[in-house]
Amino acid sequence: MVNLQATSLKVLNNQLYVLDQTVLPQQEIWLHCQSVPAMVQMIQGLQLRGAPAIGIGACLLLAVLAEAGESRAGLQQAALTLRAARPTAVNLMNAIDVMLAALGQADYRQACITAAEALFAEDVALCQRMAELGAELVHQGDRILTHCNTGGLATVGIGTALGVIRTAHQQGKNIQVWVDETRPLLQGGRLTAWELEQQHIPYHLICDNMAAMLMAQGRVDKIFVGSDRIAANGDFANKIGTYNLAVLAHYHQVPFYVVAPYTTVDPECATGADIPIEQRAAAEVKGVAGAFGQLCWAPEAAEVYNPAFDVTPASLVTGWVLDTGVFNQQQIAAGALNRQPG
Ligand code: MRU
Repeated sequence: MVNLQATSLKVLNNQLYVLDQTVLPQQEIWLHCQSVPAMVQMIQGLQLRGAPAIGIGACLLLAVLAEAGESRAGLQQAALTLRAARPTAVNLMNAIDVMLAALGQADYRQACITAAEALFAEDVALCQRMAELGAELVHQGDRILTHCNTGGLATVGIGTALGVIRTAHQQGKNIQVWVDETRPLLQGGRLTAWELEQQHIPYHLICDNMAAMLMAQGRVDKIFVGSDRIAANGDFANKIGTYNLAVLAHYHQVPFYVVAPYTTVDPECATGADIPIEQRAAAEVKGVAGAFGQLCWAPEAAEVYNPAFDVTPASLVTGWVLDTGVFNQQQIAAGALNRQPG
C-alpha cells in the first residue's frame, strides 16, 4: 500500500505507526502497531483517540494485515474485534463497515487496501470542507472557546472544530482561543494546546470551570466543538463537559456550533438517548497520568463515576457544521442529516 502521513498516524513501507497521545506534549513517540490486540489496546488506552482517527487507524491496520497476506476470515474477525474497541464514536463502526464490504469482494486483499487508502483521503477532504464552511462563521478578532481535542491528532486531516479555528487563523482573522483543559484526561491541556502552539495560534488554557465566568464577562464570542456521534434529531455526544458548555452558551447567548463529518452521523440513533456512552476507569478521575508519571490524589477506595462523553440536545445547538454545509435547527429537524456526503 502507499505511504501515508497524518499528525497521529503514518504508514511507511507497509508498516503502521501511531503517535502516542498519552505522552504528548512532553514526548513525541511513534509506536509500531502490528496486531489487532495492540491496536485495541492503543484505542482503549487513548494512545490513538478522536472519533475519525480511531476509525481510520483501525482500517489502516486491516490494510497492513491484508498486505502481509492475512486470510479473508482472519481479516473479517479482526474487523469485528476492532469495531468493538470503543463504543461511542460511530466513525469507528462506519469505517469498519466499509472494510467489511471490501472484504466481501473477490480480490479482498487489494479491495481492503484500496478502501483504507480511500477512507484516509476522504477524511482529509471532509476536514478541509468543514474547515472552510466553519471559518465563514468566524469574524475578525473572535474569541473562540473549544473543548477536548478535535485537530490533526483526532482526524487524519486538519481536524473538525480545530480545523475551523486553524483555517480562520490562516485567513488572518486575528482570533484568540480559549482552550478548556478537558478533565479528566486533559485532551485540551495536553493536545489542543500542543497543536495550537505548533500552528502559532494565540490561545489561553483554562480549567473547564472557568468558562462560565468568561461568558458572563462577555469574553467568549463563539464555541466550536466536535462530536463522536450525532443522532438523527441532531442531539450529539461529545467529550464530557460539552453539555455544560452548551447550557452556559444558551444562558449567555453565545453561538454554539458542532463540527463533524457525515461519518459521525448515526441515523440508527433516533435521539441522543440512544447513543451508547463509554464508562472509563476510576483512576482517570482519582488522579492523573502522563509522561510526567502517575499520581493519585483521591482516597484509594473512592467510588468514581466516569462517563467519557455527554449528550447535548439539539435545542442548545446554534449550528451543525457538516461537510455538506452549515445547518440550523429548522434544517436539521427537516432532515439535513439524512443527506449523502457532499
Ligand atoms: O475520548 P476522546 O479523546 O477520543 O474524545 C474525543 C472527542 O470527544 C472529540 O471531540 C471527538 O472525537 C471529535 S474529534 C474530531
